[in-house]
Formats: sequence, C-alpha cells, structure tokens
Amino acid sequence: METERQVTRVLVVDDEESQRTGLAGRIRLWGYSVETAADGQEALEKIAAFEPHVMVTDLNMPRMTGGELLQRLKTQTNAPVSIVLTAHGSLETAVNMMHDLGAFWYLDKPLTEPRALELLLQRAAAQSQLEEHAERLERQLSYQGLLGEMVGASGKMQEVFALVQQVAPSRAAVLITGESGTGKELAARAIHMLSGRRAGPFVAINCAAMPDTLMESELFGHEKGAFTGAVERRAGCFELAQNGTVLLDEIGDMPIATQAKLLRVLEDGRVRRLGGKSEIQLDVRVIAATNAPLDNAIREGRFREDLYYRLNVFPIPLPPLRDRKDDLAVLSSALLEDLNRKHSTKVTDILPDVMDRFRAYNWPGNVRELRNVLERAVILAGEGSLQAQHLPPGFGGAPIPAPALTSDSGELRIPVGYTIEQAERALIELTLEHTKHNKTRAAEILGISQKTLFNKLKEYGAQAGAA
Ligand SMILES: Nc1ncnc2c1ncn2[C@@H]1O[C@H](COP(=O)(O)OP(=O)(O)OP(=O)(O)O)[C@@H](O)[C@H]1O
Ligand SMILES: [Mg+2]
Repeated sequence: METERQVTRVLVVDDEESQRTGLAGRIRLWGYSVETAADGQEALEKIAAFEPHVMVTDLNMPRMTGGELLQRLKTQTNAPVSIVLTAHGSLETAVNMMHDLGAFWYLDKPLTEPRALELLLQRAAAQSQLEEHAERLERQLSYQGLLGEMVGASGKMQEVFALVQQVAPSRAAVLITGESGTGKELAARAIHMLSGRRAGPFVAINCAAMPDTLMESELFGHEKGAFTGAVERRAGCFELAQNGTVLLDEIGDMPIATQAKLLRVLEDGRVRRLGGKSEIQLDVRVIAATNAPLDNAIREGRFREDLYYRLNVFPIPLPPLRDRKDDLAVLSSALLEDLNRKHSTKVTDILPDVMDRFRAYNWPGNVRELRNVLERAVILAGEGSLQAQHLPPGFGGAPIPAPALTSDSGELRIPVGYTIEQAERALIELTLEHTKHNKTRAAEILGISQKTLFNKLKEYGAQAGAA
C-alpha cells in the first residue's frame, strides 16, 4: 500500500551565492525541503547525505561542472531527477544534457518566469516518485523469488511461483497437492492475494477434522432448527467467502455424501443453507488442497471422479523440501527473521555446520518441520549464532528408539529421560490400541477434541517418516 510520500527534497547547485540562496529560498516557499551546494564536488557529497529527489543545477562551476556531475550520477542508483540551468541561447547544450546525460529538463537562466520552475519541479517530483515505485516493485519481485510470504530460490519453487502468478488473476479452480508442511495453505493465500479478490475474504476449512453433519453445516451453513443442535442460523464458509476465496483443505477426507452436495454447489454457483429454502448466488473462487494424491481414493470409490475434474482445473504440485535443498538457506533466514520477531530474540545467523546438518536431513515434515526446529533453536539460543547444540537431541542422527513403555499388564511406564512429547505419544498409542483404533472413543478417553487427536497423529506420521 502506498503511504503519503514525505516532503520532496530538492538540491540546488550553483557557484554564485546570491543565485543559489535566492533559488533555494523560493523553492522552500513552495513547500520543498531544500539544501544547497556550490559545485559538483560538493553536490555529490550532499546527494549521498541528503538523498534529494530532485536536483536543480547550474552548468558552469569550478572544480566540477554540471556536465561532469551528471556524468557521475548516470551510473548511480537513486540519482535525483535533474533540471539543468542553462545560459541564454545554449539550447543545444541543454538538449545534449538531456539526451546524453539523462537530465530531466532544462530552464533558461536568469529565471524570468518562476512559475515555469514551479511546474517543472512538480513534474520532476512526480517522475522521481514513479522511478522509486518502479524500483521498489522490481526489488520485491527479484528478491530471492519472494512471493507474498512464500520463499524459495530453487528452480522447482520458481516454477511454483510462476504457476501461482499465472493462475491467480483467473477464477479457475486450483488443486494444490503436496506433502504435509510443504506450504499448501501459504500457496492458496498467495493466489488469493495476487488475485482481484484480495480485498475479499479468504476462508479455509479443514475437511478432515469433522463429522459429516458438522462439515456440511460449516460448508453450506444452516437455518435455526435444521438439525438437533442447530440453535441458531449460521452462514457457511461459501457464504462467508463471498467475493473472495475458499480453501477446501484435506479435500481427500471429505465424506462421499458431502462431495455430492459440494459438486452441486460448484456446478450451480449457488448454495442453500441446511434447512433453508432460498438459494444464495455465489461469487467465490475455490481452491482445494490435499496431501495424498486423489487417484487412489478415486479408484477405491472414496472420492468422486466428477468432483475431482471440477477441482483439478489447474493443478499446482508443491515439491517436498528434500527435493529442493537449495531452498534451505533462504527459507532458514526468512524463518529466522520471522521467529526473531515473534519471540523478541536476536539470533543473527546459523552456523555452517548446522546448515550442513540441515542439508543432510530429509525433512519428512517439510517446511513446517524446519520452522519447528528453528523455533525451538531460536528460543534456546536467544541471541548470537544458532549452533548445533540448539538442535533437538538426536536431530538428523539416529532417532531415539521408540520406547517399550508398556508393562506386561498393559500399564504405561515412563522412565526419566523421555520428553513430554514422547510420553504423550505413547499414551495416545496405548489408548488407540485399547479402543481398537476408534478415534472418537480415544479422543473422549484422552479428554481432547477429535481435531487435536487427528493433528497429533498427523504429526507423529510425519515423524515416523523421519526415522
Ligand atoms: N515456501 C515457503 N516459504 C516460507 N514459509 C513457508 C513456505 N512453505 C511453508 N512455509 C511455512 O511452513 C508452515 C507450513 O505451511 P502450510 O501450513 O502452508 O503447509 P501445508 O502444506 O498446508 O501443510 P498441511 O498439509 O500439514 O496442512 C507454515 O508455517 C508456513 O508459513
Ligand atoms: Mg495445510
């Protein structure tokens, strides 16, 4: 977003003192911030310190002429937009200055028409602002391949960025695939932010963590009394995403009955709340994400093929981190910066042997795992360099063997030396065994929500892949 620009800075360069101060005073009256220099040499120093947007310069000066000054500035980035003051009749010089040396325009001196200068300054200021803006955009685009919050330097991620940028402006349905933690949600947000819908809402719904009725009500909304427990009318996420984007996350886990209803909504472009009578016209962009390819689910009849084709208009596969280790350096430094901000820490860098271990590791949990490892390390280190000692015990080496934590009588025995996480995992596994893998029952016994249980199992799944 553009903020109001601060006062335009103007540098006046002239060797004649009365001329210089007179001009400076007048320009100041027009509301500019003004500094002066008596020759080209001094001007160069002032430009470095004062960073003027616009420069008004005389040509004939001792030590360094205006022409030499412009010549020097030609190769500098951030050079001011320059107006040259020419003596009467030297139009040819002036044109050469503009043509060869990049001067913006010229003015005859002495100034007979101050309003000409006033106008010219306004245009020069606008020109400087445009140049600055263009430079900033260019920097943003080229900077390590940054796209929204997505970072990546590898060829593989550059391809992903290109796809994201191509598809964003359209309304095409996008299917993002990739292992857990590869950045599917981030990519979906980037598509939304790069589209014309960026001012509209971005609504994400996780299709895995919910029983059927709840999911349908989350998706399509419900009227009061539509089912037991529907005590109040509620808008669904399609309605909430009106004029924006909806992300259907973990789409592969959507119950088959819900899939049929979803397909209807996508085909009609209209939605009706559960128990509702009227339909609501939708203008929503749909992005779906899945970490397991859907072909298996389709073959096994768990996923509707027609819905798949609806959603998979524009596929974007996200490569796992182990296939793009070139990204580790830029990702680590971007995440480090973010985590320093989050935890008010001052970790400055990551030691090379830590980066070596990062490169040797295969990252089953992908960028999320990298973020978690860095987060722990940043908190431990607090400041200075991030060192190997700040990595989780056993990182990248042999994992601590899964403990036999149960006694013969089926009780849990946890010896000292295990982390809370390991103990928690053992308890969850034992409980699941007890419920014969009924997750609803297990969650009840453990006193956590099904969603929490689901997330934890997913985490363990990722860790198991690491071993
Ligand atoms: N290219 C990237 N640049 C910067 N951060 C990233 C990138 N990819 C992922 N991340 C970070 O990694 C974490 C996981 O990303 P995200 O939630 O988008 O992954 P996901 O693929 O949706 O995972 P899941 O399948 O488990 O839901 C987030 O903290 C995200 O900010
Ligand atoms: Mg996700």
